[in-house]
Amino acid sequence: MRHLLSTEDLDADAATAVLDTADSLKQTLLGREVRKLPTLRGRTVVTMFYENSTRTRVSFEVAGKWMSADVINVSASGSSAGKGESLRDTALTLSAAGADCVIVRHPASGAPHRLRGWLADTGTQVVNAGDGTHEHPTQALLDAATLRERLGGLSGIRVGIVGDLLHSRVARSNVHLLRTLGAEVVLVAPPTLVPAGVQHWGVEVRHELDPELPGLDAVMMLRVQAERMHGGFFPSAREYSIAYGLTERRLARLPEHAVVLHPGPMLRGMEIAPAVADSPRAAITQQVENGVHVRMAVLYHLLAGEEIAA
Ligand code: CP
Repeated sequence: MRHLLSTEDLDADAATAVLDTADSLKQTLLGREVRKLPTLRGRTVVTMFYENSTRTRVSFEVAGKWMSADVINVSASGSSAGKGESLRDTALTLSAAGADCVIVRHPASGAPHRLRGWLADTGTQVVNAGDGTHEHPTQALLDAATLRERLGGLSGIRVGIVGDLLHSRVARSNVHLLRTLGAEVVLVAPPTLVPAGVQHWGVEVRHELDPELPGLDAVMMLRVQAERMHGGFFPSAREYSIAYGLTERRLARLPEHAVVLHPGPMLRGMEIAPAVADSPRAAITQQVENGVHVRMAVLYHLLAGEEIAA
């Protein structure tokens, strides 16, 4: 694999190879007191986070450290970006300073693709850790890893992705990857939170949640991204929560085997009730745990493994 910018970079074999590596790393480290492998010793991984993050940033750092890479964290506020340095100059600086891989989160959709272009003549690889409303490929991979563990596979399962599709990079990356791996996807959202062009995504779109629930093997609840809604929020938070919130009553309408996912951070009481988030049906902490192994696998395939991207 050379760069991971989009789940569209991965065909079924490439995605399965990453998921298999993640699973194998998880089994290898299970129950170990010291979780340290020598695989990436001597490699330098830089995280560049220009937007807030807890899960993605920490799990990439843990992933790199568990594989013995040197991991350096850069953020917009603590770096020369705060003095006006451009993203291009920052990327070239980090590459010149020895970064084998830069992991970038940025509020602008397409920023990691620009980095790939600027770094094309260097040996530095780029991973998209979430760009604007565009893509979040490692989130989709960790979601797929969790669904595989919970349901035994993805082929033929039906997944509902519910909520603020308009601003969701998680939804777009998941739609590509789930379809690549043979799952059926239904998107559920109010008409005001559906992106233009969704009819080309190859999925069903519905505006009512309740009729969909009995037919789902998994439901992925999305956070309502108020910080990207500069013109206000319609429907209101209360209307949204009544129509789309995953309550205990709605949980009971799902088949017994169905899994509840949420990429986090969650707005408890808005898109998901606290009792649902904390129920054994929810795989939210398992998603975070798998995020470390999936990100280890991505770093492995980028920096130590064979090229596998489609
Ligand atoms: N799911 C996700 O990307 O979470 P963070 O914003 O905390 O990284």
